[in-house]
Amino acid sequence: MRVLGIETSCDETGVALFDTERGLLADALYSQIAMHAEYGGVVPELASRDHTRRLLPLIQQTLDEAGLGRQDLDAIAYTAGPGLVGALMVGAATAHGMARALGIPVLGVHHMEGHLLAPMLEDDSPDFPFAALLVSGGHTQLVEVRGLGDYTLLGESVDDAAGEAFDKAAKMLGLAYPGGPQIARLAERGDPGRLRFPRPMTDRPGLDFSFSGLKTHTLTAIRKLEAAGELDEQARADVARAFEEAVVDTLVIKCRRALDQTGLKRLVVAGGVSANARLRERLEHECHKRDARAFYPRGRFCTDNGAMIAYVGAQRLLAGERDELGAMQAVPRWPMDTLNKP
Ligand code: KG4
Ligand code: ZN
Repeated sequence: MRVLGIETSCDETGVALFDTERGLLADALYSQIAMHAEYGGVVPELASRDHTRRLLPLIQQTLDEAGLGRQDLDAIAYTAGPGLVGALMVGAATAHGMARALGIPVLGVHHMEGHLLAPMLEDDSPDFPFAALLVSGGHTQLVEVRGLGDYTLLGESVDDAAGEAFDKAAKMLGLAYPGGPQIARLAERGDPGRLRFPRPMTDRPGLDFSFSGLKTHTLTAIRKLEAAGELDEQARADVARAFEEAVVDTLVIKCRRALDQTGLKRLVVAGGVSANARLRERLEHECHKRDARAFYPRGRFCTDNGAMIAYVGAQRLLAGERDELGAMQAVPRWPMDTLNKP
């Protein structure tokens, strides 16, 4: 079954073709980051307009790359949520329109289920069951995954997501959006011994996260340095380093707990923040100590992309799931533990 995957939930237009026998045939991405950077974050209306402009040419580009035509498609999968409603509707309407014209099935899928199963696109993919740390701009969750659609939420952020915290801390330091990669770069030059930021919610049991206090702590530290006339380039790097260490340490402590609590030996780490090199290094180390293994998507499938949507869509379409004719879905808020086993 050849499935076209469409992702338009936020600030990347992603398209891919997944063949259930041959694997990934082609994928293309258009990132709107440069457009939103000027505003310091995603502007929803601009995002929708840009998806409208980019999506059809990107679908054509993906088909050309695979040497296929629209008539070769067997089904279409699109991100139905969670995300920005206007942006979601561009993908949903396009998917439903094409599917109607071609007379093929179409299915709306969950964006975070896409991230969760993105490591399945790799040659060395994890078997079920596994624990998963989902860390993106909108979510920070630990999930126990027993099979497709069989998810138990172990813990999540009670306030900001880890990626959101990176973005906000970056803004305080005058860095561009998205902040994660910028903080990571600046932190390279930081002195790990100069400042120490708190590891929120690690001193009590449980697998929930909180990052808003860390955000306030970061702002206070920057203001103090500024007031003392010490906020030079080195101090900014030291703040970035202390912030990154605190987030990474917090995520690692909770992953360790999740593995111990569930007895699982496989850990999937996905979502934009999973691209963070320090996080990967620390998790590798922890997994090694426990005789466990960590799995990640390849770099470009850590952040939003069409391939993960095509993959998840294909698994569910194979199981017979599909949207009703004309019933396109765009769901801004959609808890992942409401998903069904197909
Ligand atoms: O999964 P994603 O592309 O979009 C959402 O679904 O949110 O994640 C984007 C988030 C942003 O907050 C960005 O700052 C963060 O992932 N990010 C990183 C890194 N690369 C992207 N955070 C830390 N370190 C990175 N290297
Ligand atoms: Zn995402």
